[in-house]
Amino acid sequence: MMPTHAIARHWSPAALAALVQPEQIHRDIYRDEGVFQAEMTRLWARSWLFVGHDSQVPNPGDFITTILAGQPVLMIRGEGGAIHVLHNRCPHKGAPLKSEPSGQAGRAMRCPYHGWSFRLDGSLLGVPLRAGYEASGFDSSPACQGMTRYGEVAMRRGFVFARADARGPGFEQSLGELLVALELIADRSPEGRLRVAGGVLRTEFAANWKIYLENINDAFHPVTTHASATQSAQTVWDGQGPGSEPTLAVRQLLPFASGYRFFEEMGGRVLPHGHSILGTHASIHTSYAHLGDYGAALEAAHGVERTRQVMAFAPQNVVFYPSMAIKGSPQVMRVLRPISAGRTVLEAWAFEPVGAPAAMLQSALLYNRQVFSPMSIVAHDDLHLFEGIQRQLAANGNPWISLHRGGRGGADACPPREVSGIDEALLRNQYQAWAQCMGQEDDEGAT
Ligand code: FES
Ligand SMILES: [Fe+2]
Repeated sequence: MMPTHAIARHWSPAALAALVQPEQIHRDIYRDEGVFQAEMTRLWARSWLFVGHDSQVPNPGDFITTILAGQPVLMIRGEGGAIHVLHNRCPHKGAPLKSEPSGQAGRAMRCPYHGWSFRLDGSLLGVPLRAGYEASGFDSSPACQGMTRYGEVAMRRGFVFARADARGPGFEQSLGELLVALELIADRSPEGRLRVAGGVLRTEFAANWKIYLENINDAFHPVTTHASATQSAQTVWDGQGPGSEPTLAVRQLLPFASGYRFFEEMGGRVLPHGHSILGTHASIHTSYAHLGDYGAALEAAHGVERTRQVMAFAPQNVVFYPSMAIKGSPQVMRVLRPISAGRTVLEAWAFEPVGAPAAMLQSALLYNRQVFSPMSIVAHDDLHLFEGIQRQLAANGNPWISLHRGGRGGADACPPREVSGIDEALLRNQYQAWAQCMGQEDDEGAT
């Protein structure tokens, strides 16, 4: 394998902001470990990051472990039902309290190293051989406070978000229109509840997280990148014989070959803080968005008008910058967990819209397997290119990456605003938010 030539420099806020120009970005934004470390403390720690869904921890003591802004955390349901997000690090010597991806802690957590125990909210419950600490000042030490909270936690319709550094915008202010989108997506369940189903498909790839997040907003690429996948689906359908109905698997794949006109007209919406909605009018999933007697089930639960609103909102991707993207239909979600400048973990989750026909969940599970799993016939098209881009960043010459499509020479109007689905305004919006956050001079001394 070719070396990726990782570099690590110290960057001032002004130098970081200068990596983003109105219609182009510098290649160092993807490959420099100093930029990556600054992103974790300045952008990710100040953003409302998606942690998990409350259906993953239905009972007191249920937990998941994950990574937020490069830090190992634990999301756990407490005795009273509240959800806590804690640093997964014992205050004694730093051992992980939980090493497995998910589980049930019982009524308390016990450190596997020396046996300190903690309540489900992280507070210290007990220490073996406590008498040995009596004259030590332990009772007034930070260690005696127990596990540290990651930061503030907020939840909307079961989606749990956390923010470590209060210098970022507040929850309502940051997510804004996305909270309305979450309400509409949750109401795709006749009972108004989504439930994580089918486990997670996890992929680690050798490319920067922003290359992936850009691609979620990039409706310019499927026509070329995914030509082979759609040709394969067409061949399968042709083989079924004249007059046959395409299977759901084929119906999910063929729209990747929709022409440029379709992607242009699907519509997009750029929002403040880097967020966005792609597919405001239609998406490549529209033709199979409502399976079985789904519409009737929704109308019976929500009434005609709310059902009309819910079914009309089926975007291809709603991007919660910088950590997550969810599809209106099928109900699937991707979560980014950056590891370093050149390594990223992607998680793909499926949801069951509780009370909806079983075909809706089957569609979500099938879509994840076909399109996002490591062995899918779509994801590898993208990942092959992402890893290639990361390697080729080493090539000298023009160091800038173009975001010109649909630009106005640096005169983009401020979000929120409507754009063409194929317009790189969606990508520029991500980088304008990036530069605004990374270039702030207000964090001297932040670590
Ligand atoms: S490291 Fe946890 S009890 Fe010692
Ligand atoms: Fe793709």
